[in-house]
Amino acid sequence: MKRVLLLTAMFYCVPAALADAGDLDQRAAESRAVVKEFMGALKGQLKAALKEGGPVKAIEVCNVSAPAIAMAQSKKHGWKIGRTSLKLRNPANAPDAWERSVLEEFEARKAAGEDPKLMEHYELVSQDGRQVFRYMKAIPTAEKPCLACHGAKIRPEVAKILDRLYPQDQARGFRAGDIRGAFTITQPM
Ligand code: HEC
Repeated sequence: MKRVLLLTAMFYCVPAALADAGDLDQRAAESRAVVKEFMGALKGQLKAALKEGGPVKAIEVCNVSAPAIAMAQSKKHGWKIGRTSLKLRNPANAPDAWERSVLEEFEARKAAGEDPKLMEHYELVSQDGRQVFRYMKAIPTAEKPCLACHGAKIRPEVAKILDRLYPQDQARGFRAGDIRGAFTITQPM
């Protein structure tokens, strides 16, 4: 009798466990697609503004459009979507404890030779008594256009605006190839 029960339990539990893993992969794939959309929208606007008025004009895109795109996408999907970093420009983008540990893990993986371009991390996390799916994808620093606003040599007219908008700015002095931060997504289950 016991044996029958055990076998029955195995029969039902194994496919359920597999379905969970599939569900996580599916959620990760959807998160990846949203990050691509976010990055595409931001890069498009950033490029257009840089062309039109250089970094001074483009700061507006990062300052206004980045949070606006994140908000619009969060609403559309019913998820929490944003950007975060260990060296912040906007304190409103500060990582929570889980995000900080993933960002630190990304730095360790980069130090071990992994390419930040493909770096991601996802898992189910217990949060306020509920399970949520959390996803992060590293954002590498490219020479162009990132260093104009995040590098070591920022033009004085650009630095002046950054100083005014972000008096606690830590997001300078990056080099090409560094991890600038990460996209972060929380999906309710
Ligand atoms: C024209 C200047 C400018 C350029 C070019 C630029 N950024 Fe930014 N970046 C900003 C500003 C301004 C913010 C603050 C946005 C906000 O208030 O949320 C920011 C914020 C960020 C953040 C969010 C975390 C934080 O520190 O607040 C990330 C990640 C980031 N930038 C990555 C990049 C990457 C990667 C590139 C190159 C593809 C880039 N940026 C190019 C100005 C710029």
